[in-house]
Amino acid sequence: MADSLQISTGEVTAELPITEGAVRATGLAVVETDRGPLASYDPGFVNTAACRSSITYIDGDAGILEHRGYPIEELAEKSSFLEVAYLLSNGELPTATQLADWEYQVNRHRLVHENVYDIIKSFRYDAHPMAKLMASVVSQMTFYPSSRRIAEPELRELNAFRLLGKMPTLAAATFRHSIGRHPVYPSDELGYVENFLAMLFQSQQRVWRSDPRLTRALEVLFILHADHEQNCSTTAVRTVASSGNDVYTAAAAGIGALFGPLHGGANEAVLKMLREIGSLDRVPEFIQGVKNGRGRLMGFGHRVYKNYDPRAKVIKQAVDDVFEVRGMNPLLDIAVELEKIALNDDYFVSRKLYPNVDFYSGLIYEALNFPSEMFTVLFAVPRTAGWIAHWTEQLTDPDQRIIRPKQLYTGYERRTYVPMEDR
Ligand SMILES: CC(C)(COP(=O)(O)OP(=O)(O)OC[C@H]1O[C@@H](n2cnc3c(N)ncnc32)[C@H](O)[C@@H]1OP(=O)(O)O)[C@@H](O)C(=O)NCCC(=O)NCCS
Repeated sequence: MADSLQISTGEVTAELPITEGAVRATGLAVVETDRGPLASYDPGFVNTAACRSSITYIDGDAGILEHRGYPIEELAEKSSFLEVAYLLSNGELPTATQLADWEYQVNRHRLVHENVYDIIKSFRYDAHPMAKLMASVVSQMTFYPSSRRIAEPELRELNAFRLLGKMPTLAAATFRHSIGRHPVYPSDELGYVENFLAMLFQSQQRVWRSDPRLTRALEVLFILHADHEQNCSTTAVRTVASSGNDVYTAAAAGIGALFGPLHGGANEAVLKMLREIGSLDRVPEFIQGVKNGRGRLMGFGHRVYKNYDPRAKVIKQAVDDVFEVRGMNPLLDIAVELEKIALNDDYFVSRKLYPNVDFYSGLIYEALNFPSEMFTVLFAVPRTAGWIAHWTEQLTDPDQRIIRPKQLYTGYERRTYVPMEDR
């Protein structure tokens, strides 16, 4: 294994030590170029580590995802979402007392100031819930101005509890607004996920209880979406944190990044694709179309995973539970058939294209009665646990500074301003 990288230009020879599988990019600057000290160029940061992190480990080739060393499959089977949130932020699994205290702290902060509902109401009825979520999340900073004192650990923790507690309340309020219903207040009787479902679907006139199998299926989806290391939204959160921002402002940036269809919107595209295919007998024709370059098989392939996405394996089990309660959806048969054919077809196998987390999640959300605009909101709520852990890590890492990448300037050289009449 190489332990250093030699760069030699004729004039300079430098040896850059390789530690933790990387060279320090600033080491390249010993080489002078016609544009100044040598830099690296890496659009999309595909081969650049911007931080050191101990939260989540991914090995995309092997299909491994671990939080603080614990495999996602085990967490999805044995843990709860709030326990995983604790693990992400604190680094260890909690004892029973620590977990009870953590749950108490999160759940006691579920209520939001009444004015927040006015903020949501000020949007048009058909405004996308992600826009309402982003606005209501960032508004929390104005209700809790001390959240700006990010150097104080107690205040960092208090506002992390507040954000985690309030996310389901805000997410549910955006949904209720879009269907013309009053918001439902959080209930101390219900756990984190069941309370979220109640705030979404309860009607004024009758008591609402979720089927425990559906609550557990959503809890599993929450666990699967809690963190995924340096993805686009987490990088947005870290960038906004790096200039000294509170957790609400940073999370709002994360919500904005997640809103993009390349990040949080693929499960909606999967449903659209399944509807377009329409019936089982049209699956082979669709696959052939993909192979001929007519569109992509949505929910397949991943930038990092070149193997079965471990989250997709777990989701398949949740699918069975949900459809047992809600009855079969013909789209599921189409999805299963697509997967069967694709996993045995050389086009997909040779390109290492496997189902990703989005292949089945949209079907589950739909079976739980969520409209498609809510799918990304259902991603943002649990991802908040990861954002909080990364926000804290970013703020407390002595190596970190304000994030400010370099650019390779490709514009004009200096020229003289041309007066309007001469243009
Ligand atoms: C996720 C995704 C953007 C990753 O892209 P990537 O790692 O940059 O991979 P590339 O776009 O370079 O694709 C590599 C090859 O596989 C093909 N490919 C990738 N995903 C494909 C898909 N879903 N269906 C068909 N072909 C696909 C590409 O056409 C390319 O083929 P080529 O080498 O013949 O040109 C891509 O797989 C995709 O668009 N998937 C569908 C959307 C999706 O499910 N997104 C959610 C991700 S969680």
